[in-house]
Amino acid sequence: MLLIQFTGLSGAGKTTLAQLVDQRLTALGYSIMLVDGDTYRKTLNHDLGFSKADRLENIRRLGHVGYEFVQQGTIALIAAINPYESGRQKLRELYNAKTIWVDCPIPQLILRDTKGLYHKALLPDGHQDKLYHFTGINDVFEDPLVVDLYLNTQQLTEEDACSQLTHFILSQVQQITDPNENQHI
Ligand code: ADX
Repeated sequence: MLLIQFTGLSGAGKTTLAQLVDQRLTALGYSIMLVDGDTYRKTLNHDLGFSKADRLENIRRLGHVGYEFVQQGTIALIAAINPYESGRQKLRELYNAKTIWVDCPIPQLILRDTKGLYHKALLPDGHQDKLYHFTGINDVFEDPLVVDLYLNTQQLTEEDACSQLTHFILSQVQQITDPNENQHI
């Protein structure tokens, strides 16, 4: 029915928000599929690393998987960093995917550091545990040029972000199922 692509840095809250909205919309009777980058990197995408080519291939595959569900009448939520505008644009062109930017300032992400990856990326060059090509620290994140919904998780509570996202998805679903609703004759 509808493909949603998240974009945002690691730890910004993409998966958390997707899970919350999944619960909320499932309770309302919708069919939801969460296509999570971290999860798929252990299975379908375990052959991919973090070069630009691999990240673009990652999102291409996630888009393909998500769209399989969309064709069955499901709302598919793709939660991945999805750092390149060209990758996001492809999913818009191919599947009319809507783009949700889950944004959070880097100092806040460094404070949260739920997976300890920011700490590793910020280690001095040459350190044995140093993480290279980590998005936002030593690899690129292209700010989205086309955004359907912007959520700043430093400024918003989890509840407010989830409500905005739920409202956005329901309004999109309404446009798909009842496209003449807002047409004035
Ligand atoms: S994407 O850039 O290709 O969209 P994806 O969302 O699938 O990334 O995976 C990101 C997750 O992989 C992060 O949340 C983090 O747990 C892990 N990860 C490991 N190395 C890196 C890295 N160099 N850059 C970004 N994320 C990394």
